[in-house]
Amino acid sequence: MCGIVGYIGTQQASPVLLEGLTRLEHRGYDSAGLAVLGGSGLKVAKRAGRVRDLSEGLPKRFGGKIGIGHTRWATHGPANDVNAHPHTDEASRVAVVHNGIIDNASALRAELADDGVHLASDTDTEVLAHLIGRSSAKTLEQRIAEALGRVEGTYGIAVAHADFPDRLVVARNGSPLIIGVGHHEMHIASDLAALVRYTTTVAHLDDGEMATVTAAGFTTYRLEASGLAATDRRAKEVDIDPEAYDAGEHDSFMHKEMLEQPARAEAVLRGRLDERFGTGHLGGLNLDARELRAIRRVKILGCGSAYYVGQMGASLIEELARIPADAEAASEFRYRNPIVEPDTLYVAVSQSGETIDTLLAVQEIQRKGGRVIGLVNVVGSAIARQVDGGIYLHAGPEVAVASTKALTNMFLAFGMLAVQLGRVRDLSVADGKRLIAGLTEIPGQIDRILATEADLALIAKRLAEAESLFFVGRVRGFPVAREGAQKFKEISYRHAEAYQTSELKHGPLALISPQVPTVAIVPDDELVERNVAALHEIAARGGPLVVVTHEGGDLGDLDGQLAGRIDVPNNERELDPILLTIPLQLLAYHAALELGHDIDKPRNLAKSVTVE
Ligand code: F6R
Repeated sequence: MCGIVGYIGTQQASPVLLEGLTRLEHRGYDSAGLAVLGGSGLKVAKRAGRVRDLSEGLPKRFGGKIGIGHTRWATHGPANDVNAHPHTDEASRVAVVHNGIIDNASALRAELADDGVHLASDTDTEVLAHLIGRSSAKTLEQRIAEALGRVEGTYGIAVAHADFPDRLVVARNGSPLIIGVGHHEMHIASDLAALVRYTTTVAHLDDGEMATVTAAGFTTYRLEASGLAATDRRAKEVDIDPEAYDAGEHDSFMHKEMLEQPARAEAVLRGRLDERFGTGHLGGLNLDARELRAIRRVKILGCGSAYYVGQMGASLIEELARIPADAEAASEFRYRNPIVEPDTLYVAVSQSGETIDTLLAVQEIQRKGGRVIGLVNVVGSAIARQVDGGIYLHAGPEVAVASTKALTNMFLAFGMLAVQLGRVRDLSVADGKRLIAGLTEIPGQIDRILATEADLALIAKRLAEAESLFFVGRVRGFPVAREGAQKFKEISYRHAEAYQTSELKHGPLALISPQVPTVAIVPDDELVERNVAALHEIAARGGPLVVVTHEGGDLGDLDGQLAGRIDVPNNERELDPILLTIPLQLLAYHAALELGHDIDKPRNLAKSVTVE
């Protein structure tokens, strides 16, 4: 959420910064801006809209080899030119870009206004520019430390100052900041995506750290009450293929990422399945068999799609390990003073590893003595570093705002965890082997579903015509319906509501009409007859029905009344949810394409929600 870039070196800064911002645009696309330091001092260009609008409107004379840039997802104040970052002090000598939220901004704004300072924007960030600009401390680092000492909240910041034209200063507290080491040049970014084109030698700042970055290198400090204490942070080589950040021949990252799923699914399973003993082999949990056996309850926390896949995971754990398990929205958890128990295993699920609601839930559990494991995609992210153990998802960089491949790997990680928890209890070796074989088959089966894209596109075009849709499922199928509705509404902007099939007649049936289609998840399992009976009630009222079911699934005479039937391959019934989810991704994608939306940058959203 919001992106920061910075450059200092031998090249003109603005093209490098614009390239970095383009790569970070999925983090926020309300407005964008640059500040560069050149011969004529500090110059700022910023505007509402996309990075390409900024680039096209950039003044001719915008030279300078030092600069910072930002792409914004609005929190304080509307998305307009004035509220775009960078923000400057009154003398326009300091420029600041900021990710995060300053909680005491109102009080600081009032204090500055009382002192006669003119605040140009509605943002929280602007106070930082004024506080730094007004400081009389000797060094830029001290001025920034002094200003940061006044603010409460979260930040990743980069600062350029006309009086210190040989450096940029960055600081982090709750919002990621990375320094990239180039050849006679240095880069700054809030996300690796902006850097990998230039360098893969990087240093991640820790919370409470600040760095001075010059063209020759960087020095780090810890912000302490007594001042700045030097730290010894070194840059390290990261093993990342820059190509992973390109959409290649695909029209969008979402399409690329959906098609990558078979390969990424293999990656998360690799080396973690013990076929001989029919169990998972998840060393990163840091829990031995005795500790796994002592777990009496599992509580899963995540937001959005990570919450819905958490619900799928809870079912898997209850079914296979017979441990009570449930999932809860991490954004709600800590506000209800949750009871944290020592024999509960807490599981935090997050693609980015930066979602603040999930991170704060983890910290709340740990504060109360609980143990948390993470299912996280981004290596070294805040949640990955905070948890007591976990499973990396190996989905590779996920750039599209709508999560697909990470979610699939979250499910597979839950599958392995559930089998491992089951096998130290009363899941038999035969059942363990059956499930391990089922997990192994999933990548190939996803491939088969993806191969039906053209048929799914035809169904999606029809669904896209409806203003409002239902997604229904029950028991294992309900989180699938929730995820399907989430993906559909997120990128098609159609109203898509998920409901338990069994609950339809208790209210929502009133909305069914020929204009309101229903996408129904009907696995060929023990509930198929009950599901079909409920769907007849929709058909009888003229509601168009699209059913996602299994190859060979018998829907009786409902089959003849369907607007569409989508068959997925058969696997072990416990593992159904992920195969039933894949076609729903493609339905959402093709509906959004049909409606002409920007697939990777849905309105009002951004990748990684780093503010509460
Ligand atoms: C939906 C989506 C979001 C994220 C949610 C959590 O497609 O992407 O709902 O799943 O914001 O994000 P992470 O997994 O990064 O914690």
